[in-house]
Amino acid sequence: MNNDIERVLISEEDIEKKVIEIAESISEEYKGKEVILIGILKGSVMFMSDLMKKITIPCKMDFMAVSSYGEGSESSGVVRILKDLDFEIRDKHIILVEDIIDSGVTLTYLLKYLNARKPASLEIACLLNKKDRRKVEVNAKYIGYDVADYFLVGYGLDFAEKYRNLPYVGILKEEVYK
Ligand code: PRP
Ligand code: MN
Ligand code: MG
Repeated sequence: MNNDIERVLISEEDIEKKVIEIAESISEEYKGKEVILIGILKGSVMFMSDLMKKITIPCKMDFMAVSSYGEGSESSGVVRILKDLDFEIRDKHIILVEDIIDSGVTLTYLLKYLNARKPASLEIACLLNKKDRRKVEVNAKYIGYDVADYFLVGYGLDFAEKYRNLPYVGILKEEVYK
């Protein structure tokens, strides 16, 4: 295990099972339709690619880049679009793919921004949900795990851009970020 990790919160095996469950729900619930998965860079990348591989209905992928946290560990509450979609999403079935919902600020902003383009449907698939940190309410249709307010890294989640490559979700040692 990485030396900066206090303990593993969600193992690689558990993540894999959960991703398959979510992919099966999506494949079932959108049967006969095509979905566009929109990953929010960069945290969603691992979840996005694993999820997409397990979806059995036609699907496309696109990405958006937004900035809210910068290099710090606290949300600034401001969302800026750094990269917009390549696709037109009008009348399409859209699933926003995220690694984690924290304050809810990023997704609330994106829902409003994308809804203005009149998709046929717009839902959220998120691996981790830090409920206790919520500043604005967000309803995600697919949630992997509700997690407590630990400093989490791995499987796409970073601290100052590091640890995204860990195959599990782990709790970062306090001495690393204090
Ligand atoms: C993190 C995370 C979510 C967002 C959640 O991204 O990946 O996108 O913050 O926070 P919120 O619910 O408080 O808005 P971050 O801004 O750290 O960028 P990254 O994905 O590139 O790490
Ligand atoms: Mn992110
Ligand atoms: Mg981050």
